[in-house]
Amino acid sequence: MVTLHLSHESANLKRSVIRDLLSVASAPDIISLAGGLPASEYLPIEQYQECLDTVLKREGSRILQYSPQYAPLRAWIAEYMVKRGVTCTPSEVIITNGAQQGLAILSRLLLDPGDPAVIEQITFTGIQQVTVGRGAAVITVPTDLETGVDLDALEKAFQRQPRLAILIPDFHNPLGVSLSLEKRQRIAELSARYEVPVIEDDPYSALRFEGTPLPPIKCYDEEGTIFYLGSFSKMLAPAVRLGWIVAPTDLIPRITALRESFDLESSILTQTAVYEFLAHGWMDEHLRTFNAANLVRRNALINALQQHFGGEVRWTEPEGGLFMWVTFPETVNTWEVFDQAVKQKVVYVPGGAFAVEGGYTNTMRLNFSNARPEIIQEAISRLATVIQATPELL
Ligand SMILES: Cc1ncc(COP(=O)(O)O)c(C=O)c1O
Repeated sequence: MVTLHLSHESANLKRSVIRDLLSVASAPDIISLAGGLPASEYLPIEQYQECLDTVLKREGSRILQYSPQYAPLRAWIAEYMVKRGVTCTPSEVIITNGAQQGLAILSRLLLDPGDPAVIEQITFTGIQQVTVGRGAAVITVPTDLETGVDLDALEKAFQRQPRLAILIPDFHNPLGVSLSLEKRQRIAELSARYEVPVIEDDPYSALRFEGTPLPPIKCYDEEGTIFYLGSFSKMLAPAVRLGWIVAPTDLIPRITALRESFDLESSILTQTAVYEFLAHGWMDEHLRTFNAANLVRRNALINALQQHFGGEVRWTEPEGGLFMWVTFPETVNTWEVFDQAVKQKVVYVPGGAFAVEGGYTNTMRLNFSNARPEIIQEAISRLATVIQATPELL
């Protein structure tokens, strides 16, 4: 057997720990607070079935062919962005197979291996894959658990002329925090002043169940330096694998070419079916039901944490999204406790999995959308048993 020369990128890329955890979590008797799964009971199966039937019947074999991007869906997305305060036309929208593909495409557009890139100290693993994984010289910035990324640190990082920065504006994965309005405005200003492109990775903003919706950073983009990523994964269903990029018109041809190099195009069947769902006006109703359920589940998680922990254990209280970030006293190591938790048939993601430079071993990310309230209560009671059974903890 010859030894093949493999790319640096394939060596740098680490499989997401979360995917491995999800295989443990999928055992039938395990309670999982690990994945980022929307509540299965609320996925709109019947409506989506109707959409698929309609488009298959109406469009015939055309809908199973190669096809350009579906113009009505681009127009719907542009209008949706305009409603959120962004200046946007359909020609600035590119449909992707989810926000992750948007991250991968924009990383290829803006970053060569070795280039400096700014990401948060604690961030979604998919963001690490398109920066650390691509051999970027990563500059990390800390994030405040109340108001989002630390702007002094961000400005210092921008002074080092990075090729891009990637931030999550609403209901951060894994921290649950949202950027304050003032910070959104300042980030756009800093991006323009230092000419650093900011990728605003926003799969969660539609999942708000409390508080006032905030405009995307893209609203304050005066110099064409903010790239927005949206997704239907969390607002409709992960399996539709559809999202979008909003980028300046002059960059669209390059982005289109990059996008084609990945997979030519998103499925026209899926694009048309999702558009059918939207054209029926079903999204608002779906989000109302879905977010109402998530609020009940977030409250169940807070109640359970208060009941079983309290004291020195702290957690974020997100106004939407799917995740909460819990910080235990330094003596608790959530990697070490993980196996015992699995024995008790409950799983979470150790916070360290999101820490770009390691550490944060006393934290965990908990998902509150995928288990019913009484199951969440049971999960936290089991977790408390595990943590309190470990003598030197708490
Ligand atoms: C912050 C963030 N960005 C991107 C993604 C990927 O989303 P998609 O399913 O649209 O590819 C996720 C998924 O969990 C996420 O949390």
